[in-house]
Order: sequence, then C-alpha cells, then structure tokens
Amino acid sequence: MRMYDIISAKKQGLELSEEEISFFVRGFTNGEIPKYQMSALLMAICLQGMTSKETMILTKEMAKSGDIVDLSVIKGKKVDKHSTGGVGDKTTLIISAIVASLGVPIAKMSGRGLGHTGGTIDKLESIPGFKISFSQKEFIDIVNKVGICISGQSGNLAPADKKIYALRDVTATVDSIPLIASSIMSKKIAAGADNIVLDVKTGSGAFMKTLEGSIDLAKAMVDIGESVGRRMVALVTDMDTPLGYAIGNTLEILEVIDVLNGKGPKDLIDICIELATEMLYVSDKGSLEECKALAKESLESGKAFSKFLEMVESQGGDVSYITNTDKFEKSNVCYELKSNKSGYISKMDVEGIGIASCILGAGREFEGEEIDYSSGIVLNKKTGDTVKEGDILAFLHTSSLEKAKSAEEKILSSLEFSNEKPNEQPIIYARVDKDNIIRY
Ligand code: URA
Repeated sequence: MRMYDIISAKKQGLELSEEEISFFVRGFTNGEIPKYQMSALLMAICLQGMTSKETMILTKEMAKSGDIVDLSVIKGKKVDKHSTGGVGDKTTLIISAIVASLGVPIAKMSGRGLGHTGGTIDKLESIPGFKISFSQKEFIDIVNKVGICISGQSGNLAPADKKIYALRDVTATVDSIPLIASSIMSKKIAAGADNIVLDVKTGSGAFMKTLEGSIDLAKAMVDIGESVGRRMVALVTDMDTPLGYAIGNTLEILEVIDVLNGKGPKDLIDICIELATEMLYVSDKGSLEECKALAKESLESGKAFSKFLEMVESQGGDVSYITNTDKFEKSNVCYELKSNKSGYISKMDVEGIGIASCILGAGREFEGEEIDYSSGIVLNKKTGDTVKEGDILAFLHTSSLEKAKSAEEKILSSLEFSNEKPNEQPIIYARVDKDNIIRY
C-alpha cells in the first residue's frame, strides 16, 4: 500500500477502505509517513469530506492508537461530558458537581486551553494545590470514594489524534466535520465512560461557526458514540456571546463558586441545568423533567457546592480559597475598558474576545507557556445591552498596562453597535440523539 495512492484516491473523492485508513493512522503515528504527505491527505479530506463509515473507522483507529482506559472497576455507569470549546465556558465544573452529588460517578479527563478557547484543567490548576495527575489506581480510588475526579489527559490517550491535531492546527485543516468528530470521539472512547453528553458550540467563538455545520457535527459524533455502544446526547449551544461574564482561569473559578452558591449569571446557570439534566437522563435517573428537577434541587440546596468542596479537597486543592475567595491572588492591574460608542451591543466576535484574554495572560501563545491565572476579562456588558460612550464595557485583569491596552484594542474591534435592540438569541439551538434532531 502506498500513501501516494491514498492521497490521490481522496483527492478524487473516493471512499477509503478500512485497510487504507488503518495504514495512514498507524504509519503517521509511528513516524513512517512524513508530515508533507499527511498534510496533503488532511487537506483532501477537508475538501472532499468522509463518509460516515470512513469517519467511524478513523475514530476507532485513532482511539486504539494508545491506551484505552478501563473504568469497569468503578461502581455504576460513568458519564462524561465534552464541550467542543468556547470562551468563558466553565460549565464542566458546575455540571460535574451537580451530577456527582446525585450519585452518578464522574471519572473525567479534561484538556487545557486550545487556541482562543479556555480549558478545564487550567481553570482547576488556578486553585492552589489542586492536582490533575494521578496513577490509574489513585484516580479510580478517588472516584469510588468521592464520586468524582477530574484529571488531565494521560500522555498516551489517542496519540494518533495528538499528532494529527498538531498538524491540522498549522495546515488550516481544523474546520472539517469528519476530522473534528473523529478527533473528539477518539479521545472520549479511549477515556472509557459509558455515556457521553456533548456540548457542541456554534457561533463566532466556536470552531464550527454555522448552525447547520454544528448540527451535522453533533450528529456525526452521536452516531460514532452509539456505534461503539455509548449512550449519546448532544446539545448545540450558543457561542455568539461568551458564557457568563468571567473569562480567565481564577476569574472563572470565582464565577463557578458564585453559581454553586445560588448566584451567578442566568445564561450560565440555564445551560448548566440543561447539560446536567441530559447527563442524568443518559444515566437513567428519570424522565427529562425529573432529571431537570433533580439538577435544580442539587444546585439550589447547596448539594452541588458540597460535592465541589469534596472534589477540591480530594484532589489536594486548598478548600479555604473556595470558602473565602478573597484569598485568591489578584492581578496587578485592573483596567476599566470604556466604550468609545453609544448604542446597543449588536454583535460580539467571541473569538476576538478569547484572543484578548490570551493577550492579558489567561491563555498560551505557544505550547507549554506559563499561564497568569489571575488575568482575564470580566465583562460588564454583553450582546443586547445598551451602552453610552464612556460606560465601562469590561474590567481587564492583567500584569501590565501595556497588555491591557493591547487587549483593549482587540476587544473594541470585536464589538458591533446598533441603534436597534438586537433580537435575543436562544442559548440552546438543537438537541441531537440517535433517533432525532430537535431544533428549538
Ligand atoms: N477539539 C478537539 O479535541 N479536536 C478538534 O478537532 C476540535 C476541537
């Protein structure tokens, strides 16, 4: 078999066989296939697409390129949740606490920030002492004892995806439905949960910018999961506005603590309740209505907050920071970003705002770069709000005025204003399971 022929077949839009897909995944992972050939194939896949059969084979090949985590020693059905990535998306921390407080085990591996989007592991590491690395035995013991453990991704989880993703990142081949679906699902399958709820983001801050593309991506991932025996639901949710008001690691943890204490922004609370409901539903905790009532009760009664405290403690985090948030280190600079225009905010380029938070120090420009946990953005105004010139749009937390000024420019150029109040956008656009696509 020759890589040249595989590239040529895909360039002509032909369906690749199982042997061909297995050949290029193995060959690229073990270094036999060079990056220039893999790049050409990825571009051909981007332009010609893949059938659902090819996408499923690609996913399974990437999943079995490394460790397959065996969670069977943890009692009960394990549920996982995955977001395709957004700005201000701190839902995992709230939802996991809700679901675990209701007796459904969460044995979850999460990632770090990617591009303009934040990552759960970076957020958790902003809590002093919090550990994200465990042996398999420690991880399983914590889940069995506390009902929840969120760890970083093991080094050998779907290594084929790791290598292919790094190449996609620099060859303009990220935004392809079969490539995104197989990338995400290979890691989810290898991570071992029985049931999976996907939060597929759509809009200016998402990898998929259009609603139809996001629904197709959701359907592709649901079908892949179901084909390997996982129970799957995907919600397609809004990323045309950052979620909540806080963007940046410590700032987001503070907003999470607010929500768990019965405060916090409505958009964030609503989406957390919907996602937690779906996680409970796929875990057979009742009808959708019953699961929603359970999720709300956990949040409102403080059960979810108690579970969050237990999780922080069991993972070595200093719980006194959670109960007394004044202890978190503050940034040197808190810059008031004022509006240079009047009117309604009609549009936010969420990717631009995510990049601004990276400029402030909340994300990485290159792999391994240190994060400034206290930095980021606290929005004061969002889409639909009315603003007068000179009003505060956001507070920029960072280490220097120079960074604040450069982020200010990026944020101002990411906002559009109008004289008319824009129509309110739904938070959830669609629900996708194996049988139905329901649009709201
Ligand atoms: N997240 C992933 O893990 N893979 C993608 O391709 C896109 C987002």
